[in-house]
Amino acid sequence: MTDLAADPQTPEDAAAILAAGGVCAFATETVYGLGGDATNADAVLKIYQTKGRPRFNPLIVHCADRKMAKRLVAFDPVAKRLAKAFWPGPLTLVLPLRAKAGIADIVTAGLDTLAVRVPATESARALIKALGRPIAAPSANPSGKLSPTRAEQVRQAFAGKVPVLDGGPCVAGVESTIIAFDNGEAIQLRAGALARSDIEKRLGHRLASAGPHHAVTAPGMLRSHYAPISRLRLNAGVPEPGEAYLGFGPIPDYAVPTRNLSPDGDLVEAARNLFSALDDLDRVGLARIAVAPIPNHGLGEAINDRLRRAAAPRDR
Ligand code: TXA
Ligand code: MG
Repeated sequence: MTDLAADPQTPEDAAAILAAGGVCAFATETVYGLGGDATNADAVLKIYQTKGRPRFNPLIVHCADRKMAKRLVAFDPVAKRLAKAFWPGPLTLVLPLRAKAGIADIVTAGLDTLAVRVPATESARALIKALGRPIAAPSANPSGKLSPTRAEQVRQAFAGKVPVLDGGPCVAGVESTIIAFDNGEAIQLRAGALARSDIEKRLGHRLASAGPHHAVTAPGMLRSHYAPISRLRLNAGVPEPGEAYLGFGPIPDYAVPTRNLSPDGDLVEAARNLFSALDDLDRVGLARIAVAPIPNHGLGEAINDRLRRAAAPRDR
């Protein structure tokens, strides 16, 4: 892929790229995905290569509806209840892969489970329907970098070499919540755009988080991820000289480069703005970004998870 890619204008045009074994980025309600035909091993290999993603890190498969998902994985009663309540939407379910699902092996990185979700964005579901097959798609960022929530960020991240079906800015702004099952018990592998409290309401009990006491994990939950070029200082009260500032809620003017995730202190708005605000401040080019404390309830859990990983020490 040395040429600049021509962007598809419709879901059907994008489906034609995928049907020919190519990759194409598309909008979901969470972040932009880098899609390929999940049944075509060569196409999926291109996704890993384009992102520079380690092969041990499996991909999420996007389905047009619950019916398509049911052909790929086996639902237990709890999984069925969650899918009925939250699909289409930002919930990914990790379930046993069916033997004849036809999913390319490298999608699951050899696991016997498959992560599936039905995205809420209309154009994403139109794309899957037009292809007639499930679409494997990680977030459309080079591995380890910030996830894109606008078409323009995808173009910049891959220097225009990846075609993008522009679906406008993503409304949620952080990735889907991932739930796996351990002996029938729902376990949260990744906090995301569906708040824990909403899931707990449906379950009727507390939702466990992945940890050493559970067998299930998401192989891709690396400690350092979403790494901006600037370093982050979390739970910062006031920015220090030489720092940019990522605020939340009402803040004074500190006379440093500033973005406010939500002047009203709204966590949904803050999640939507998170990656773009970090990207903007990163471009200012200061050594460090001071980040205001973010409450940990609702979407705050996902925001704080992304911030912790963006701030984690890196070996690159
Ligand atoms: O919102 C989202 O989920 C976005 C949009 C594009 O749908 N996608 C996304 O994909 O965030 P990605 O590849 O950046 O993150 C997928 C996560 C990884 O942490 C991966 O390890 C985990 O899902 N995962 C995938 N399949 C799994 C499986 N079978 N078991 C456990 N974890 C799995
Ligand atoms: Mg990602």
